[in-house]
Amino acid sequence: MHRIVEKRKLIERTWQMRVEAPLVARKCMAGQFLMLRIHEEGERIPLTIADWDREAGTIDIYFQEIGATTEHLATLEEGDAILDVVGPLGNPSHVEKLDGTFVMVGGGFGIAAGYPVARAFKEAGNRVIAVLGAKTRGLLICEDMLKAVCDEVLVATNDGSYGVQGLVSDVLEGLLDRGEDIRQVFPVGPPIMMKVISQMTLPLKIKTVVSLNSVMVDGTGMCGSCRVTVAGKTRFVCSEGIDFNGHEVDWDEMMSRQKMYGRQEQEALAHYHACHGGSR
Ligand SMILES: Cc1cc2nc3c(=O)[nH]c(=O)nc-3n(C[C@H](O)[C@H](O)[C@H](O)COP(=O)(O)OP(=O)(O)OC[C@H]3O[C@@H](n4cnc5c(N)ncnc54)[C@H](O)[C@@H]3O)c2cc1C
Ligand code: FES
Repeated sequence: MHRIVEKRKLIERTWQMRVEAPLVARKCMAGQFLMLRIHEEGERIPLTIADWDREAGTIDIYFQEIGATTEHLATLEEGDAILDVVGPLGNPSHVEKLDGTFVMVGGGFGIAAGYPVARAFKEAGNRVIAVLGAKTRGLLICEDMLKAVCDEVLVATNDGSYGVQGLVSDVLEGLLDRGEDIRQVFPVGPPIMMKVISQMTLPLKIKTVVSLNSVMVDGTGMCGSCRVTVAGKTRFVCSEGIDFNGHEVDWDEMMSRQKMYGRQEQEALAHYHACHGGSR
């Protein structure tokens, strides 16, 4: 059992939890994830390990309530326990000293997922810029913690309530226009955003590593549900990624596979609401 030692609401339906998981905390590195299961009958879900404290034996997760399991997770309070936390899973992000700037582009929960990678590139001696996207200012998360580890943090909001009005791709274009010597881009968030950024950087030959969030069932390379096509070859995101060359990912296939369990997810959510008194 893994005790929740801290729970914090970031914005509507988005939470940070600090969870006791000493074995995971001891070994995890930037770019890795865990699979958690709340109770015996629960499904396993993958979440990024956004931060960790090796001495305290805790890890931090940031999650959005979007279905039955994440809604259930959000009902747990400090002192409650999660049955299984398995990890660290996936390969750590490849971190190196670049000859120019590293740009992490984050959207939604991807902002928290990109944080440890941005921090690792900073620790490796790089100039690091974070570009964060949100629909509106009230939906932006993790800005302050990224400011603490980046040389610059730039924000795009769809409604212009904060930062640049527009999309993260507009901010990236602005960085290129001002002559920023970008050597690697790391988009993490909604697949459509990662696809657009990868298409932008392809003709410019800027290395673009994406952190893929394909649907996972076991998280250990056994079931095949997370498969994607990269450079024409079938790859399993959980065991061979989660980072891949964004220029080589078959994005349309990946996005259509994300919807493959839509009916089952709807049923699971309806069942959860029926058992727990309707939508929260
Ligand atoms: C490596 C990895 C890291 C992730 N890290 C985070 C994170 O740090 N924070 C966070 O909020 N979410 C993260 N996700 C997504 C998270 O796993 C899903 O939101 C979760 O599984 C949804 O479960 P549910 O039962 O609440 O919703 P469901 O009803 O199962 O799904 C609702 C919606 O989420 C999508 N979805 C379902 N399962 C997955 C899945 N396994 N992966 C991706 N999308 C899915 C579906 O397309 C569906 O539209 C990550 C996914 C992966 C693969
Ligand atoms: S989640 Fe089963 S093979 Fe990757």
